[in-house]
Amino acid sequence: MSERRIRRKPVETISGDGIILRPVAVADSEIMFNLVKDWPDYLRFFWGPFEPGCKTLNDWQRRNATKHPGLKSFVILNDETLVGQIEAGNLGDGKWIIGFWIGTQYTGRGYAKKAVTALTDHIFKAFGAQTIDANVDRENLTAKAVAIDTGFRLSGSHPDIPNHLVFALNRPEK
Ligand SMILES: CC(C)(COP(=O)(O)OP(=O)(O)OC[C@H]1O[C@@H](n2cnc3c(N)ncnc32)[C@H](O)[C@@H]1OP(=O)(O)O)[C@@H](O)C(=O)NCCC(=O)NCCS
Repeated sequence: MSERRIRRKPVETISGDGIILRPVAVADSEIMFNLVKDWPDYLRFFWGPFEPGCKTLNDWQRRNATKHPGLKSFVILNDETLVGQIEAGNLGDGKWIIGFWIGTQYTGRGYAKKAVTALTDHIFKAFGAQTIDANVDRENLTAKAVAIDTGFRLSGSHPDIPNHLVFALNRPEK
């Protein structure tokens, strides 16, 4: 009798400077929830991981099980430890947007910068993006530092989100 083999699609991961980005799985929900559950409410209104209403473990499981068309969500792994999340959304016409967070106990170790660099490189190469935006609260000095140090430049105030700036990274010239 011939052996039946189950062919699993390989999971697409992105590597960068010691960290790995792996697509978010439902099984990651509990760890992710525990990393952000004590955060103040205002942080939950960032684009991406903090959609309003995503407050309980159930919400996280539901969110991670739902396919968002055009949204690519990755956990950030350092030595197999889940330290945060980064996402990229396709806005059309060559324009993408990213959002990211790092669990408080893992901040200040360069993980956000490494993840942003790895994901933006990937978006330019794999999807032919022309511009990548990041929306940052005016008072979020750390996120501003991450954006500027990874090559983003201020492009203006966000037209719809109060108190937010838009930083943009253009496709590198060949
Ligand atoms: C913003 C956030 C992602 C940063 O993560 P992180 O892993 O600590 O970031 P990194 O270590 O890669 O880089 C942080 C940089 O900011 C700098 N920084 C920290 N506080 C700063 C301040 N008050 N002013 C200026 N720079 C500051 C650090 O010195 C570091 O730069 P360095 O490597 O030159 O020392 C994390 O704090 C977070 O998740 N915050 C809540 C969610 C959020 O704000 N997401 C971003 C939405 S756009």
